[in-house]
Amino acid sequence: MANHVSLTRYLVEQQRLDGSIPSQLRLLIEVVARACKSISHAVNKGALGGVLGASENQNENIQGEIQKKLDIIANEVLIEANEWGGHLAAMASEEMEDIYVVPNRYPQGEYLLLFDPLDGSSNIDVNVSIGTIFSVLRKPEGAAVTEGDFLQAGCEQVAAGYCVYGPQTTLVLTVGHGVAMFTLDREQGSFVLTQEHVKVPEDTQEFAINMSNMRHWDAPTRRYIDECLDGAEGPRGKNFNMRWIASMVADVHRILTRGGVFLYPWDKREPHKPGKLRLMYEANPMSWLIEQAGGAATNGHQRILDIAPAQLHQRVSVVLGSKNEVERLTRYYAEAAE
Ligand code: AHG
Ligand code: MN
Ligand code: MN
Repeated sequence: MANHVSLTRYLVEQQRLDGSIPSQLRLLIEVVARACKSISHAVNKGALGGVLGASENQNENIQGEIQKKLDIIANEVLIEANEWGGHLAAMASEEMEDIYVVPNRYPQGEYLLLFDPLDGSSNIDVNVSIGTIFSVLRKPEGAAVTEGDFLQAGCEQVAAGYCVYGPQTTLVLTVGHGVAMFTLDREQGSFVLTQEHVKVPEDTQEFAINMSNMRHWDAPTRRYIDECLDGAEGPRGKNFNMRWIASMVADVHRILTRGGVFLYPWDKREPHKPGKLRLMYEANPMSWLIEQAGGAATNGHQRILDIAPAQLHQRVSVVLGSKNEVERLTRYYAEAAE
């Protein structure tokens, strides 16, 4: 593709190539991108824009986490940008307990949008990369939209992506034909295609996990990480490097850029929860992107995209990235169950 291909042009060309992106979906993606641009500006202003720190009343979200100002701002930006355009029937967010049905005064569309408006909240105030994650589903046939309409497995997604607010603002997208990356050109005010056909190498020597939870892990995760730490002298016969940014967007972005494996496993701190990350608006979109780039994503037992969700805010254990590493750890889980 020629230089300076904007997101809009990329989507129009994809639409022309195989007709797989209906106009409504293209417009919806463009609106999400515009919202991300505006969140990026708020993030960039930082202390000057008064956007850092906890929300005024120290509000808690449905997950029991204290909301940061930017969690709320980003959520509002996404809703306001998307509610009136006619592409959506409803939205769901990490920051809202219930679904947000498009108000009657606006036209109703045929899609459902899910998002983690601001991922990596603990990194906002320390000026480390954060992002927005989104997932688009088709609204099932039927009259009024309900929460049940959102409970579709990740393999039903029609678009998924994230925008990472780091040294550059980069939007990463899949509509089911590979993964493309767009960098925000601040002078032009538009996202410009900077990489197509993103590929995650099958092998890696880099893992990402919060090591401080080691004592709480189960045996397969412990075995896998122990073997990585044993390096060239151990069973793997090679040294491993470790990275943990604590923003899933930034960790996944690194993996899409140079490979690696990311783990947020179940652990004994909260044994009744399957994991920390949320299935519908964190694990599903990221898993689809990783698979579209040739990687793999499981919960240790099954492909994340095949999990039939039971709840909007359901959590899940996550292993994703370079295929051979994900398969190895998934095999360790299977062996432990024998
Ligand atoms: P969020 O800010 O949306 O709540 O998500 C934070 C998530 C994810 O981005 C990251 O991988 C993980 O939490 C970090 O967890 P630790 O605090 O255990 O490092
Ligand atoms: Mn998150
Ligand atoms: Mn969040």
